[in-house]
This record gives sequence, structure tokens and C-alpha cells, in this order.
Amino acid sequence: MGKERAFFGQPRGLVGLFFAEAWERFSYYGMRALLLYYMTDRLSDGGLGLRPESAKPLIAVYGSAIYLAAILGGWISDRLLGDRRTTLVGGFLIMCGHICLAVPAGAGALFASMVFIAVGTGLLKPAISSSVGDLYPADDPRRDSGFSIYYMGISVGAVAAPLVVGTVGQDYDYHAGFGIAAAGMAAGLLVYLRSRRRLNPVGNRPKNPLRPAEIPRARLVAAVAGIAVLAVLAVLTVSTGILDADGAVNLISVLAIALPIGYFTVMLRSSRTTRAERARVRAYIPMFVAAVAFWCIQEQGATVIAQYAGESTDLDAFGFAIPASWFQSVGSLVLIVLTPLFAMLWLRLDRSPRSPSTAHKFAAGLAIAGLSYLLMVVPAAHPGQANPLWLAGSLAVVTVGEMCLSPIGLSATTRLAPAAFATQTMGLWLSSNAAGQGIGAQLVKFYDARSAAGYFGALGAGAVVLALLLFALAPLIRRQATKRGSTMDRNQAAVSR
Ligand code: PHE
Repeated sequence: MGKERAFFGQPRGLVGLFFAEAWERFSYYGMRALLLYYMTDRLSDGGLGLRPESAKPLIAVYGSAIYLAAILGGWISDRLLGDRRTTLVGGFLIMCGHICLAVPAGAGALFASMVFIAVGTGLLKPAISSSVGDLYPADDPRRDSGFSIYYMGISVGAVAAPLVVGTVGQDYDYHAGFGIAAAGMAAGLLVYLRSRRRLNPVGNRPKNPLRPAEIPRARLVAAVAGIAVLAVLAVLTVSTGILDADGAVNLISVLAIALPIGYFTVMLRSSRTTRAERARVRAYIPMFVAAVAFWCIQEQGATVIAQYAGESTDLDAFGFAIPASWFQSVGSLVLIVLTPLFAMLWLRLDRSPRSPSTAHKFAAGLAIAGLSYLLMVVPAAHPGQANPLWLAGSLAVVTVGEMCLSPIGLSATTRLAPAAFATQTMGLWLSSNAAGQGIGAQLVKFYDARSAAGYFGALGAGAVVLALLLFALAPLIRRQATKRGSTMDRNQAAVSR
């Protein structure tokens, strides 16, 4: 991939990946915006008539499972299909998932759609994110800002989706709304197909193809994994009835933490990981932990912060009734507005001789997330309804943290990943979100309007302390990440700041 300049000074392939991922996220967040209402609405009004107590944990399990599936998707891409085919198959399955919901076929169609979308997203998301990394030569300083632009595509989809899919679904017909999500994914597939010639051809084949001798073992692992998935599905299916909501939530929390730990262990012990790569994986672990803590706070925007918006915020403060759900869009809006600024900032900082390391950016992101919660202590400590600007301000602050951590995390993942595990490491990165949500699912139980100030204070302070720790570790991490190995490693290590 040459250094041709086209899209904000970035490789031209980025345009296609930007819009393909924007459409995929549009379909995903649009479906998410409708799901709870569809599941809990009365049968006579076109819903499924489930109780909210059953629907909420199911949606949470589903959200976490999607990002956990990315670990499996990464394996399939690295070993069987390559990024290009994995993205296409994934996108096709996601579209099928939305089509299941677009036909009025009840709870069975919902479960089928969940399986399609979880598997499809698990395939597509790590593969497409990994192709962004492949647009850049190893030493290209544009990588971080390129990922910031790509991440803006995610937010463009996320902002538009509830407005379009949500409005059509709620005001007109649920299935029409889901149909628009399906059309959105179809558009994403078309954009991807059109742009695939601009992508790095390494995505055309698996990066570490399965050798014939490994096939029997892979079959065994696939069978065991298949049985495990079926068992989990069975437990979840009965969980709406027999197992209480808490049981289902506890199950995800455990899985979401255990799977990434297991995967790190496999990567560190694999004979295909070179010594220098092993040092880089070790350097990645503290940053992964910081990311888990970050997502634990950021993803509470949809739970605790949503609840605070509904219960403790003066929604009439500006003379009209602000819908509580509007707060869900604040983050993505702020992100879109600030991205050009951050893309420039990273480009400038990374070219300067005293460029901040990835660990510094992560520490800053986590500290800022902590501050967003500490800020909430002020209104929460005062009795009465809070001015909505507090909440909007806190959401804007956490989004600045997101810009320091999330695009940089994607970028660092593509730089630090062992060659044999390229897309799988991306899957692992996505699972940091699943783990954060899994831990969050346990923490949010401690939140209510009376404990709010203490809750925000404790979590905010905890995040800041963790961030300071990471800051202190940053020089050590940088040294580990740049450890020299074989000649092949050296090229990569030179840029693994
Ligand atoms: N907004 C991000 C996205 O949809 C959330 C996320 C971050 C998901 C990291 C997975 C991993 O891409």
C-alpha cells in the first residue's frame, strides 16, 4: 500500500472501510434501539409480550456474546478464510439476521436472528478492523489518525440508527424498522464489495492457514466449542423461565472474563508466537485491563446513566420535555465533531520526537473516564433533579476519553499482534468491551438514586487510580513492546511504541 493521499491524507481503501462499517453499525445500533421495545410490547401491539425482567438480561447477554464471538471470528479469519471472505460472510449473516426480524414471525425468528447476528458480527468486526491496519506499512505514522477516522464511521452509523430505525420501528411498524436495518447491512456489503480492490491483498487469504496435520485437532476443538455454545444457548433459553435473570447475568460476567484470560494464555504459550512477539503480548495485557475498566464505565451510558437521565434529571429545564433517550446520542455526536481535531492531534504528536506512547494515551483515556464519573458526584450529592447539562457534560468528557483509547486500541492491536494471530488479536481487543460490560453488569446492581454520589465517586476514583498505575508502568510497557527479536520482528518492533 503506497503512500497515496486521498481521504484526509489517508489511503483510499479507508473510505470503503469507513462506509462499510458505518452501515454495519447503523444496522446494529438501529436494531438495538428497537429491541427492548419490540420484546416487551404487547402481542396485540405487534410486540412479543415478554416481561422487561426477562428481556433486559437477554439483551445484555446478547450484547456481550456478540463481542465474545469476535474471538472465534478472528480464528476463522486467520486460519480458514482470510479477512476479505470473513467480512463478506459475516456481513451476509448479519443481513440474514435482520431479515429474520423484518418478517413478523415471533420469538423463534428473534432467536434465529440473535444467532445470525452474533456469529455474523463476530466474523465481520475483527476482520474489517484488521483490514484497516493492513492499509498501512509497519512504520506509517498515519495509523492512529486513520483509526480515529474509521472510528468516526462507527459513530456516524450509531447516531443515525436510532433516529431512522428507531423512529420507523416505534412509530410505524417494528418489522419495517428491522427491514431498514437489513437494507443498511446490504448497503454496507455493497460498499465493501466495491472498495475491496483498494484494500491490501493480504486479506485475500488466511494469514496463518490451518495445516493438514492440524485439522483433526481443530475438528475436536470445534466440536467441543460447538457443544459448549449449544449448552450456553440452552441455559439462556431456559433462563427466561427457570434460571432467574441474575443467573444469566452472572453467567455472562464469568464467561466474559474467563475467555479473554484463556485466550491470552493460548497466545503466550503458542509455539507460533516468537519471543519478541511474546514480550509485546505481555506489554499489551496492562493496556487490555485498562480498556476493560474503561468500557465498564463507558458502556454504563446505556444503563446507569440512562437511569439517571430518567430518574434524577430535570428534563424540563429548558422549557420543553427532553426525551431521556436523547442522552444516548450525545457521545456519538461529540465524537463526530471532535474526530478531525483528534486525527490532527495524533498525527502531529506521533511525528514529534517526544510522542506519547500507546500506554500514555490509554492512561489518559481511562483517567478521563474516571473524571466523567467524578463530575457526576456534584449533581448526585445535591438533592432534587439535576440540570441536564451535568449529564451531557459528563457524557462529553467520557467521549474524549474514548477518543484517546478506543481508536488507539484498534491501532495498537494491529501493531502489536503476533503475525499468526493478527485478526484473532483484534477479536481479543473487542472482547475487552465484553469483559467491561460483564463486570459492569455486576457493579450496576449497586446503583440507585440514593447511593448515586457514592457510586459515581467510588468508580470514578477507582478508574483514576488504575490510570495512574498504567501511567507509572508506561515506560516499562514501551520497553517490552519494542523488544528486539528476529530480523522479521525488528521491522515491526521499531514502530511498536
Ligand atoms: N462504539 C464501539 C463500536 O461499536 C463500541 C465497541 C468498542 C465495541 C470496542 C467493541 C469493542 O465499535
